[in-house]
Amino acid sequence: MRIAVYPGSFDPVTLGHVSVIRRAAGLFDRVLVCAMRNSEKHYMFSPEERVELLRRVLKDIPNVEVEACSGLLSDYCREKGAAVIIKGLRSVADFSSEQQMAWINRSLNPGTETLFLPAEEQYLHISSTAVRELANYGVNLTGWVPDEIVNDVMEKTERGRERHGEWDH
Ligand code: PNS
Repeated sequence: MRIAVYPGSFDPVTLGHVSVIRRAAGLFDRVLVCAMRNSEKHYMFSPEERVELLRRVLKDIPNVEVEACSGLLSDYCREKGAAVIIKGLRSVADFSSEQQMAWINRSLNPGTETLFLPAEEQYLHISSTAVRELANYGVNLTGWVPDEIVNDVMEKTERGRERHGEWDH
Protein backbone atom coordinates (compact mmCIF):
# COMPACT_ATOMS: atom_id res chain seq x y z
CA MET A 1 0.00 0.00 0.00
CA ARG A 2 1.39 3.41 -0.99
CA ILE A 3 0.99 5.78 1.94
CA ALA A 4 1.84 9.49 1.80
CA VAL A 5 1.83 12.08 4.56
CA TYR A 6 0.83 15.67 3.89
CA PRO A 7 2.03 17.70 6.89
CA GLY A 8 1.38 21.33 7.65
CA SER A 9 0.12 23.90 10.10
CA PHE A 10 -3.28 24.30 8.36
CA ASP A 11 -4.04 27.39 10.44
CA PRO A 12 -6.51 27.42 8.75
CA VAL A 13 -6.74 24.99 5.82
CA THR A 14 -6.94 26.93 2.53
CA LEU A 15 -8.21 26.14 -0.97
CA GLY A 16 -4.54 25.71 -1.96
CA HIS A 17 -4.08 22.95 0.63
CA VAL A 18 -7.28 21.20 -0.51
CA SER A 19 -6.11 21.25 -4.13
CA VAL A 20 -2.79 19.59 -3.19
CA ILE A 21 -4.57 16.98 -1.03
CA ARG A 22 -7.03 16.06 -3.80
CA ARG A 23 -4.19 15.60 -6.29
CA ALA A 24 -2.17 13.56 -3.79
CA ALA A 25 -5.22 11.37 -3.09
CA GLY A 26 -5.23 10.48 -6.79
CA LEU A 27 -1.62 9.33 -6.63
CA PHE A 28 -1.54 7.29 -3.38
CA ASP A 29 -3.65 4.59 -1.73
CA ARG A 30 -3.82 6.53 1.54
CA VAL A 31 -3.01 10.16 2.30
CA LEU A 32 -2.52 11.05 5.96
CA VAL A 33 -3.03 14.77 6.47
CA CYS A 34 -1.21 15.68 9.65
CA ALA A 35 -1.75 18.97 11.50
CA MET A 36 1.65 19.59 13.08
CA ARG A 37 3.52 22.19 15.05
CA ASN A 38 5.88 24.67 13.47
CA SER A 39 7.82 26.04 16.43
CA GLU A 40 8.23 29.40 14.67
CA LYS A 41 4.48 30.03 14.56
CA HIS A 42 1.75 31.15 16.94
CA TYR A 43 -1.51 29.43 16.18
CA MET A 44 -5.00 30.83 15.80
CA PHE A 45 -6.70 27.43 16.01
CA SER A 46 -5.80 24.63 18.44
CA PRO A 47 -4.60 21.30 16.98
CA GLU A 48 -8.06 19.78 17.69
CA GLU A 49 -9.80 22.66 15.91
CA ARG A 50 -7.46 22.45 12.91
CA VAL A 51 -8.19 18.72 12.64
CA GLU A 52 -11.94 19.32 12.88
CA LEU A 53 -11.87 21.94 10.10
CA LEU A 54 -9.72 19.68 7.89
CA ARG A 55 -12.03 16.69 8.44
CA ARG A 56 -15.06 18.78 7.56
CA VAL A 57 -13.64 19.97 4.23
CA LEU A 58 -12.06 16.63 3.25
CA LYS A 59 -14.88 14.27 4.21
CA ASP A 60 -15.74 13.43 0.60
CA ILE A 61 -12.26 12.01 -0.19
CA PRO A 62 -12.35 8.37 1.00
CA ASN A 63 -8.60 7.68 1.08
CA VAL A 64 -7.72 10.79 3.12
CA GLU A 65 -7.39 10.69 6.92
CA VAL A 66 -6.68 13.61 9.24
CA GLU A 67 -4.76 13.59 12.51
CA ALA A 68 -2.76 15.93 14.70
CA CYS A 69 0.76 15.17 15.86
CA SER A 70 3.03 17.22 18.10
CA GLY A 71 6.20 15.21 17.41
CA LEU A 72 8.72 15.02 14.61
CA LEU A 73 7.45 14.46 11.08
CA SER A 74 10.15 11.85 10.40
CA ASP A 75 8.98 9.78 13.42
CA TYR A 76 5.34 10.11 12.37
CA CYS A 77 6.19 8.78 8.87
CA ARG A 78 8.11 5.84 10.33
CA GLU A 79 5.23 4.98 12.68
CA LYS A 80 2.69 5.11 9.83
CA GLY A 81 4.82 3.23 7.28
CA ALA A 82 4.73 6.23 4.93
CA ALA A 83 7.55 6.46 2.39
CA VAL A 84 6.47 9.80 0.92
CA ILE A 85 6.01 13.30 2.33
CA ILE A 86 3.93 15.59 0.10
CA LYS A 87 4.63 19.32 0.04
CA GLY A 88 2.96 21.97 -2.11
CA LEU A 89 5.18 24.63 -3.70
CA ARG A 90 4.01 28.11 -4.64
CA SER A 91 7.29 29.88 -5.29
CA VAL A 92 11.08 29.74 -5.38
CA ALA A 93 11.04 31.03 -1.78
CA ASP A 94 8.93 28.01 -0.78
CA PHE A 95 11.38 25.75 -2.58
CA SER A 96 14.46 26.93 -0.69
CA SER A 97 12.97 26.34 2.74
CA GLU A 98 11.21 23.12 1.70
CA GLN A 99 14.36 21.70 0.13
CA GLN A 100 16.18 22.14 3.45
CA MET A 101 13.31 20.50 5.35
CA ALA A 102 13.32 17.61 2.87
CA TRP A 103 16.99 16.94 3.54
CA ILE A 104 16.51 17.21 7.30
CA ASN A 105 13.62 14.75 7.18
CA ARG A 106 15.58 12.35 5.00
CA SER A 107 18.59 12.46 7.29
CA LEU A 108 16.31 11.70 10.26
CA ASN A 109 14.45 8.97 8.38
CA PRO A 110 16.20 7.73 5.20
CA GLY A 111 13.04 5.74 4.41
CA THR A 112 11.16 8.87 3.30
CA GLU A 113 11.27 10.94 0.13
CA THR A 114 9.67 14.37 -0.19
CA LEU A 115 7.52 14.85 -3.27
CA PHE A 116 6.75 18.43 -4.32
CA LEU A 117 3.50 19.27 -6.07
CA PRO A 118 3.31 22.69 -7.71
CA ALA A 119 0.40 24.81 -6.54
CA GLU A 120 -2.32 25.38 -9.10
CA GLU A 121 -2.04 28.83 -10.65
CA GLN A 122 -5.29 30.15 -9.19
CA TYR A 123 -4.03 29.43 -5.66
CA LEU A 124 -0.50 30.84 -5.94
CA HIS A 125 -1.38 33.92 -3.86
CA ILE A 126 -3.13 32.01 -1.07
CA SER A 127 -1.51 31.24 2.28
CA SER A 128 -2.89 30.70 5.78
CA THR A 129 -0.93 33.80 6.88
CA ALA A 130 -2.67 35.94 4.25
CA VAL A 131 -6.04 34.45 5.25
CA ARG A 132 -5.52 35.38 8.91
CA GLU A 133 -4.43 38.89 7.94
CA LEU A 134 -7.44 39.43 5.65
CA ALA A 135 -9.81 38.04 8.28
CA ASN A 136 -8.47 40.68 10.68
CA TYR A 137 -9.62 43.36 8.24
CA GLY A 138 -13.01 41.73 7.78
CA VAL A 139 -12.40 40.70 4.15
CA ASN A 140 -14.80 38.04 2.83
CA LEU A 141 -12.76 34.80 2.74
CA THR A 142 -14.82 33.11 0.04
CA GLY A 143 -12.34 31.97 -2.60
CA TRP A 144 -9.53 31.75 -0.03
CA VAL A 145 -10.71 28.98 2.27
CA PRO A 146 -13.35 26.27 1.66
CA ASP A 147 -16.91 27.64 1.98
CA GLU A 148 -17.62 25.28 4.90
CA ILE A 149 -15.12 27.06 7.14
CA VAL A 150 -15.44 30.74 6.14
CA ASN A 151 -17.63 31.50 9.18
CA ASP A 152 -15.36 29.58 11.57
CA VAL A 153 -12.37 31.74 10.59
CA MET A 154 -14.36 34.97 10.86
CA GLU A 155 -15.82 34.02 14.26
CA LYS A 156 -12.45 32.97 15.63
CA THR A 157 -10.92 36.24 14.42
CA GLU A 158 -13.74 38.20 16.06
CA ARG A 159 -13.35 36.33 19.37
CA GLY A 160 -9.59 36.98 19.31
CA ARG A 161 -10.22 40.67 18.72
CA GLU A 162 -12.65 40.83 21.67
CA ARG A 163 -10.09 39.15 23.90
CA HIS A 164 -7.06 41.22 22.87
CA GLY A 165 -8.68 44.56 22.05
CA GLU A 166 -8.77 46.20 18.64
CA TRP A 167 -5.06 47.03 18.54
CA ASP A 168 -1.87 45.64 19.99
CA HIS A 169 -0.06 48.50 21.73
O1 PNS B 1 2.39 24.75 7.11
P1 PNS B 1 3.79 24.91 7.64
O2 PNS B 1 3.82 25.75 8.89
O3 PNS B 1 4.75 25.39 6.59
O4 PNS B 1 4.27 23.41 8.04
C1 PNS B 1 5.55 23.21 8.60
C2 PNS B 1 5.57 21.84 9.31
C3 PNS B 1 4.52 21.82 10.41
C4 PNS B 1 5.29 20.74 8.31
C5 PNS B 1 7.00 21.65 9.92
O5 PNS B 1 7.28 22.70 10.81
C6 PNS B 1 7.16 20.31 10.59
O6 PNS B 1 7.43 19.33 9.93
N1 PNS B 1 6.93 20.28 11.92
C7 PNS B 1 7.01 19.06 12.70
C8 PNS B 1 8.30 19.02 13.52
C9 PNS B 1 9.46 18.54 12.67
O7 PNS B 1 9.51 17.40 12.22
N2 PNS B 1 10.42 19.43 12.42
C10 PNS B 1 11.60 19.11 11.63
C11 PNS B 1 11.38 19.39 10.15
S1 PNS B 1 12.47 20.66 9.66
